[in-house]
Amino acid sequence: MSFRIQPTPPARPNRCQLFGPGSRPAIFAKMAASDADVVNIDLEDSVAPSDKDSARANVIEAIGGIDWGTKTLSVRINGLDTPWWYRDVVDLLEQASERLDLIMIPKVGCAADLYAVDALVSAVEAAKGRTKKIGFEVIIESAAGISHVEEIAAATPRLQAMSLGAADFAASMGMQTTGIGGTQADYYMLHEGARYWADPWHWAQAAIVAACRTHGVLPVDGPFGDFSDDEGFRAQARRSATLGMVGKWAIHPKQVALANEVFTPSDAAVLEAREILAAMETAKANGEGATVYKGRLVDIASIKQAEVIVRQAEMISGP
Ligand code: COA
Ligand code: MG
Repeated sequence: MSFRIQPTPPARPNRCQLFGPGSRPAIFAKMAASDADVVNIDLEDSVAPSDKDSARANVIEAIGGIDWGTKTLSVRINGLDTPWWYRDVVDLLEQASERLDLIMIPKVGCAADLYAVDALVSAVEAAKGRTKKIGFEVIIESAAGISHVEEIAAATPRLQAMSLGAADFAASMGMQTTGIGGTQADYYMLHEGARYWADPWHWAQAAIVAACRTHGVLPVDGPFGDFSDDEGFRAQARRSATLGMVGKWAIHPKQVALANEVFTPSDAAVLEAREILAAMETAKANGEGATVYKGRLVDIASIKQAEVIVRQAEMISGP
């Protein structure tokens, strides 16, 4: 128990984050025209070392030059273990227009990583007189990141969202897979000769959700690599949504509709949530803390569960 009220995360839709390489400016306008809530232009692992400088220049130009509508606009910088990240931060903050909303910091391993970026960002913002404070999002994709996930979630008020990056995470953990998210063939229980697949990402996702919910940060599921497998994407996304994540990345435009489908509460779910709230209003009027809805118990905790769904639906449909 705690007397502290759980902080609310940023009230903006984050059902899908569409990624595209900063070295491929021809797709920027397509990203802007997509149905993704968040656009992430990448300077990190989808950009070859020889293209880092030109990609940075492309991105800076596109931030001010393209109409991004109401999307959250984010740029993924290079990791703190590279020679590129400080130039990413300095050039973006010195040269890009104030349309930029977030920078995404990959491979975060501890709270001090965010302290370092925050110090640099704060200094450039002050020097340039930028009025809009840049927000951060991070990727948990290493053993150190998941070990320090709670201190990372608490590291800076700039932090808005945290994603699980399955591929680098698997590599850092020494997991025997080359798949990016989803079902892993060798991760099963054997019972009376039959195989029952389990979810190797589950514990990391749950740890991220708990850290995020404690500190008012949006928990997000990262990439699903096999973009020809729609059902695999849906299954992974549904598990993430059930655990409390608010959205998922798209690494190909065809995944945007799938993520929006899963992370938008269905009309039936919203109707049921509203009916539960109405049933609890009636119970309250009768002086009862619990009642029966469709043959099952609903009580004061059910109000909070139903409100999660109604709030999410209202935020997505807008004011
Ligand atoms: N965003 C918006 N549009 C995209 C896109 C993206 N990420 N990737 C491809 N498109 C466009 C293509 O330009 C093409 O448009 P057209 O119909 O007008 O010609 C259409 O979508 C179909 O593209 P397709 O041929 O199926 O894909 P591709 O071979 O051009 O690119 C990838 C496939 C995976 C290389 C590309 O989607 C990509 O780079 N994804 C993001 C990778 C990334 O950012 N990784 C880092 C995070 S994990
Ligand atoms: Mg990565």
